[in-house]
Amino acid sequence: MAKYRNAHGGNLRASDIGNEVHLAGWIARRRDHGGVVFLDLRDASGHVQVVLNPDDAPASEEVMRRLRNEFCIMVKGVVRPRLEGTVNPDMPTGEVEVGGTSLEVLSTADTLPFQVDERFDADEGRRLQYRYLDLRRDRMADNLRSRSTAIRAMRHVLDDLDFLEVETPTLVVSTPEGARDMLVPSRLRPGQFYALPQSPQLFKQLLMVAGVERYYQVARCYRDEDFRSDRQVEFTQLDLEGSFWDQDDVLDTLQAIVTRVVKDVRGIDIPHPIPRMTYADAIARYGTDKPDVRFGMEIVDLGEVFASSEFRAFAATLADGGTVRGINAGDQGLSRAGFDKLVAQAQDLGAKGLVWMVVEEDGSLRSPVAKFLSEAELSGIAATMDGKPGDALLIVADEVAKAAAVLGELRLSLGRPDNHDDLEFLFVVDFPVFERTAEGGFVAAHHPFTAPLDVAEMRNSPETAVSRSYDMVLNGAELGSGSVRIHDPELQSQVFEILGVSADEAQARFGWFLEALRYGTPPHAGFAIGVDRFVSILQNEQNIREVMPFPKTQTGADPLTGAPGVVADTQLEELGIDVRAEVRAAWSDTTSDS
Ligand code: AMO
Ligand code: AMP
Repeated sequence: MAKYRNAHGGNLRASDIGNEVHLAGWIARRRDHGGVVFLDLRDASGHVQVVLNPDDAPASEEVMRRLRNEFCIMVKGVVRPRLEGTVNPDMPTGEVEVGGTSLEVLSTADTLPFQVDERFDADEGRRLQYRYLDLRRDRMADNLRSRSTAIRAMRHVLDDLDFLEVETPTLVVSTPEGARDMLVPSRLRPGQFYALPQSPQLFKQLLMVAGVERYYQVARCYRDEDFRSDRQVEFTQLDLEGSFWDQDDVLDTLQAIVTRVVKDVRGIDIPHPIPRMTYADAIARYGTDKPDVRFGMEIVDLGEVFASSEFRAFAATLADGGTVRGINAGDQGLSRAGFDKLVAQAQDLGAKGLVWMVVEEDGSLRSPVAKFLSEAELSGIAATMDGKPGDALLIVADEVAKAAAVLGELRLSLGRPDNHDDLEFLFVVDFPVFERTAEGGFVAAHHPFTAPLDVAEMRNSPETAVSRSYDMVLNGAELGSGSVRIHDPELQSQVFEILGVSADEAQARFGWFLEALRYGTPPHAGFAIGVDRFVSILQNEQNIREVMPFPKTQTGADPLTGAPGVVADTQLEELGIDVRAEVRAAWSDTTSDS
C-alpha cells in the first residue's frame, strides 16, 4: 500500500463514485462555509473538490481550521456525486467530489509572494524569481506537460525510423555560425576558452563521416544574442542529420515528426503534404522568408499599372529600377486618423511613403492622391488588387526589397490572427547561398556548410546563387532550418573563400573539419527544429519563456538563482582572468538588475 495516496485527484470521474481514495496534493483554494470546508485540491493530474465536514471527520476538525492556500496535504475520503446544481461541467472532475474522513498536513506554506491562482497575473520578474510557484499554475503545468509530450513524440518517430540518439559535447571550440559565442574559460589552460555550442552542427556532420547515418539529439544550444519573444540565450533544438539523404528525405522526415507532435499535443491531424514555397515566391508574395499563410492579403505588383504614370513618386521609383506594390488589406474600417497611423508606421519601417485608397460603393477609389492618377490607373489598381467596396488598398513604391519588407510587415500587423488555434505549416525552399553584408562582403545565408544548388552558379554569381537549404515555418514563425551539406572539402574551401576566410585562416580554424571531409564523407543533409518555439505555438503562448521551465529575463538574468553572478577572486586567479577596475565598479549596479 502506497504511503501517501492510492489515486490522483484530477483523474476521478463518476465511475469512481463509492471508492475510498487517499489523495495528496496542494490546496489551490479553500472556502469555509459555516463549518464545512471546501477545498480545491491540486496535484499533477489536475483538480478535485474535497469537502471536509467536521461531522464526518471529527478528528481533523482542528486541522481543518488551520488550512491555508498551498499547504501540502494528504486526505482520505470517499468519492461521491456532487449535489444537484453544483456539478461543474468545465472541470474534468466536475461531477464528483471527495467527502473527507481524515486529513493530514504534510507541509505548511508561508504567505505566498503572489497568488498561484490562475486568475491573478503576477509581475514577470516575480514569476521568474518564484518559478517553482509559477509552475504550479495550471497553464504552466500544462505547458511543461505538453513540452514533454512533444519531445516524446519526436523521439517516437525518430526511434521508429532507426535514428541513433547521440550526445555531442557542450564545451567546444568557437565556430562561425552567425551568432556570438558564449565562452567558458579553461582553468587547465589559463587564458583559453571553450565556446558553448550554437548548435551541434559540425559534430553531427562528423557523425556522418563516422558512419552513423541517422542521428538525432534533443540538444541544448547557446547563442549570445539579444533577447526577443522567440529568442533566449539558451534554448533547445531537435537536431537531426542523415547520410545518403537529400532534401526530400529531410522534409519527409520532418513532416512525419510534426504530424505526430501535433497529434499528440493538440489531438488533430495536419493536412498532407505540407506545402512548399520557394524563397523568391515567399518574398514576392508575403515580403518575408517566413510567411504566415493563415490569411491572404498577398502582395501585388502594380508595375504595369503605373508603367507610364505621371505621379512623380511612383514614376521616379520605377525609372530607378524600383517597384510599386500593394496589398488589399480588406475592410479595416479605418478613419482618416487610422490611415495616418499606417502611413507613419510604414515610414517607421523605412518606406518613403504610403498611398492608401478605399474602394467606394460604386467601385471608384477614394484617396488623397486620386487626383494625381489617371482613370486608367485608378481602374487598373482596383482590378489588379481585386478591390471590393470597403477595401483598403495600401501601396508602396521603393526598392524591391524595401517595398516587400514594408508591405510584409503591414500585412502582418493588419491581418495576423492573435492566437494559434489554426496551424499552417509551410516549407520554404531554395534560399540563397549568401547574403550581402553592409561592408559589401558575403555571409552565409544559412551557414557555411550548406551546399549550393549549382557550383558554377555559386562561383559566377554568388549574389543570386540558390542553395540547397530550407526552413520550416509555422504560422509565420521560423520553426527550424536545415540544408544539404557540402561533403567535398574542395567545395567547402571555395565557400570559405567567397566568405572572405583565407585558406590559412580556414586551415587554422577548421582544419580539423576540412580534414574530416577528406576521408570518404557520405552525402548528407539535416535539420534543426526549435523546440521552444514549436511548443510555444502549440500552447498558444506569445513568448517562448512560457514553455521553458527556468528561462532568463530580457537582460539574460535569472532572478531565481541570481545568475549571472560575480565569482571569488581566487576563481578568477585560477583562470588567469583579471576583471578591469571600472567593470568591477559597475558590478554593484548590474547584479541587482533583472
Ligand atoms: P538555425 O540557426 O536556423 O539552424 O536554428 C534552428 C532553429 O533553432 C531555433 N532557434 C532558437 N530558439 C530560441 N532561441 C534562440 N536564440 C534560437 N536560435 C535558433 C529556431 C531555429 O529555426 N545547425 C543549424 C541547423 C541545420 O542546418 O541542421 C541551425 O542551428 O527555431
Ligand atoms: P509627395 O509627392 O512626396 O508629397 O507624396 C505624395 C503622396 O505619395 C503622399 O501621400 C506620400 O505618402 C506618398 N508617397 C510618396 N512617396 C511614396 C512611395 N515611395 N511609396 C508610396 N507612397 C509614397
